[in-house]
Amino acid sequence: MADKQTKETAEEFSSRIFGIVSGSFIGISIAFGFKTGLFKVLVDNHDTPMTSQEIADVANLKERYVREWLGVMTTSSIVDLDPMTERYHLPPHRVDSFRSETMGGHAASCCIAIPQFSQAFPIMVDVVKKDGPRGMTFSMMPNVQEFINAFSSPWVNDCLIQKFIPSQPEIMSKLETGIRMLEVGCGRGAATRKLAERFPNTHVVGLDIDQGAVDRSNELAKSLALNNVEFVCSDAAAMPKDWTSTFDYVFIYDVLHDTPRPDLIIDEVKRVMKTSGIVSVIEMNAESKQSENIENPSASLMYTCSLFYCLPMGYNAPDSMGLGTMWGKDRIREFMKGKGLKIKSETMVPMMPQIHFLLELM
Ligand SMILES: C[S@@+](CC[C@H](N)C(=O)[O-])C[C@H]1O[C@@H](n2cnc3c(N)ncnc32)[C@H](O)[C@@H]1O
Repeated sequence: MADKQTKETAEEFSSRIFGIVSGSFIGISIAFGFKTGLFKVLVDNHDTPMTSQEIADVANLKERYVREWLGVMTTSSIVDLDPMTERYHLPPHRVDSFRSETMGGHAASCCIAIPQFSQAFPIMVDVVKKDGPRGMTFSMMPNVQEFINAFSSPWVNDCLIQKFIPSQPEIMSKLETGIRMLEVGCGRGAATRKLAERFPNTHVVGLDIDQGAVDRSNELAKSLALNNVEFVCSDAAAMPKDWTSTFDYVFIYDVLHDTPRPDLIIDEVKRVMKTSGIVSVIEMNAESKQSENIENPSASLMYTCSLFYCLPMGYNAPDSMGLGTMWGKDRIREFMKGKGLKIKSETMVPMMPQIHFLLELM
């Protein structure tokens, strides 16, 4: 790739830039299609080509705007338009890419980040200034859990129980037998609930600092009538005092790099786990040196997530470590060793550009 870029002509570069810009514009329209239910209508009716009026009526939307959106979708070769009948449909091979909350729909549904990051954009223009604020707080990104959920739910629905847990025999056997497990930074609790459902002998506690996410998690657990799961709102760097030595397994998915002092969180994890306990930490599969991420196809997307969410959240206090999403494997290994945790294994997370560290006390 680096070699390809050095041989690139000005015209080729200009055309590549146009592709990037065009893709960004299409991306916000994809997000719009998910949010308004338009993709659901097209997915549900993929074998029945429909007019713009029919699509608008099923979605309960104004036809004129729906037609403009369909203009984006047809000219970007996402939706097919029959010029004779003026009917639109999603061809079969594209349908799964628009099923939200599934791995097939993962890439497209991540477009919801674009409007989310637009909330952060004016804030970041100030934050980046030398004399601007250090970072952002949760209240500045009120809807961010929607993107977090879009990023992790497909994996939770299609992979966590089916592929990830079975690929980790030690975790699987403990959960089957029945243990006390803690998920740190559980967001809206999708993984916590799935694990509680699949492993009824295990008691699962989900912890998050975001009260809204915890309330939503509790509501959903109640609706599933799960009695082996609970959600607690707390800073992971100051967990309840009576949790000392009570957990056999701690699961931390896509959390540490968002926090200003992950070292304090790990101190707390060590306090609340039993000496025989194990810990899963899942982070992006990145290199710690930027120059070594150039070939990584997910890298530019993940650096963008870092710039508009993870880094400003994790850099907001004077003593912040400011890790960013892409802090990378070398720094993670060094950090864990420094915190007295031994890496038992290091494996790629099935279906995601992430890496799993299985850890125990040294
Ligand atoms: C990127 S999200 C991942 C959420 C969830 N694990 C998932 O993948 O859906 C990071 C989560 O960590 C939570 N979080 C951040 N700092 C925290 C802290 N100090 N204590 C507890 N939770 C925290 C955030 O509220 C957010 O829900």
